[in-house]
Amino acid sequence: MPFPLNRPRRLRRTEMLRRMVRETRLSPDNLIQPLFVCPGRGVNNPINSMPGVAQLSPDMAAREAREIAAAGVPAIILFGLPEHKDAIGSEAWSDSGSVQRAIREIKEHTPEMVVITDVCMCEYTDHGHCGMIKDGDVDNDATLELLAREALSHVRAGADIVAPSDMMDGRVGAIRRALDENGFCLTPIMAYAAKYASAFYGPFRDAAQSAPQFGDRRSYQMDPANGDEALREVALDLEEGADIVMVKPALSYLDLIWRVKQEFRCPVAAYNVSGEYAMVRAAGLNGWIDERRAAMEILIAIKRAGADLILTYFAKQAAREL
Ligand code: PBG
Repeated sequence: MPFPLNRPRRLRRTEMLRRMVRETRLSPDNLIQPLFVCPGRGVNNPINSMPGVAQLSPDMAAREAREIAAAGVPAIILFGLPEHKDAIGSEAWSDSGSVQRAIREIKEHTPEMVVITDVCMCEYTDHGHCGMIKDGDVDNDATLELLAREALSHVRAGADIVAPSDMMDGRVGAIRRALDENGFCLTPIMAYAAKYASAFYGPFRDAAQSAPQFGDRRSYQMDPANGDEALREVALDLEEGADIVMVKPALSYLDLIWRVKQEFRCPVAAYNVSGEYAMVRAAGLNGWIDERRAAMEILIAIKRAGADLILTYFAKQAAREL
C-alpha cells in the first residue's frame, strides 16, 4: 500500500502557509463590547462574578468608550441601572436615566462609536421581570408600549441601534412603529430573536441587578431543547422589521447560529454571554487554561458558525490582540 497522495499536514507547516489557507478571519469590526452604566459620577464598581467588568457612571463609560474605540472596536451595547426601581420600570424612558446620559456623553467625546442600547424592563422593575406584571404573570401586550417608549427615549438621546432583549411577542413591530412615527425610520433594530432561558446569564444578573424576584423567565425566553422554534422566532422578527437578529447565548447554541445564517442569510449577531465569559476568566485566573487563547478560539468558533457580529466582554482585549 503506497502512502496516500494527500497529506493535509503540508499546508500546516508554517504560520505563513496557515495564514494563506485560513477560512475564517476575526476582525475587530465583528465585535461589540457590552458596558453597564449606573447613576452618579466617577463610579467604577467591579462586578465580583465578572472579573475585569465594572458598573460605570456615564462619565466613566464615556472614558471607557474612548479606549474601546482606540482598540478598534466599532460598537458598544449599553445596559442601564436605574436610581430607583418600580413596578413598571419607569426610569427606563427617563431622559435623565443613566443610559440616556451615557449615550450623550459618549457621543460628545467619541461620535463615531456605534452606540447600541439594550431595551428591556428587567433592570428597571422592582420585581426584576422583563415586562409589566398582571395577575402574577408578565403581561405581553401591555409591555409593548413601555418597550417602545424606552427605545424611543434611547434614540432621542442619540442611540444608533436599539436591541430589544425582553422576548415579548410583537415587540420588534411595536418598536419599529414607534420609531417610524417619530421620524427615526433609519434607526436599525437588532433583535434578540432567539434568546434562551439560560443558566449562563447568572453573572449578568449581578452586574445589572436584574434577577427576577419571583419565578423565572421560562414563560418568555426559549426552551434550550428547541431549535426549529428559533427559526420561527427569527422569521417573525424579520417580518416585523428587525435589521439584525441575535442568537443568545452563543456557545451552547452554535448549531442555531449556523441554522439561522443558512436559512435567512441576514446579518446575524451572537451573544457570548456573562456566564461564558466568567467560566473562561475563572479558569484563566486559576491557571487552569490559557485564557487569551481560549477566548480567541471561542470567538473564531462563533464566527465560523455564521455570526457576523459577536457581543463579548472580551471585545476590547481581543481587538487589541488582532
Ligand atoms: C436583559 C438581558 C439579559 C442579558 C442581556 N439582556 C439577562 C436576562 O435575560 O436575564 C444577558 C447577558 C449576559 O448574560 O451577558 N433581559
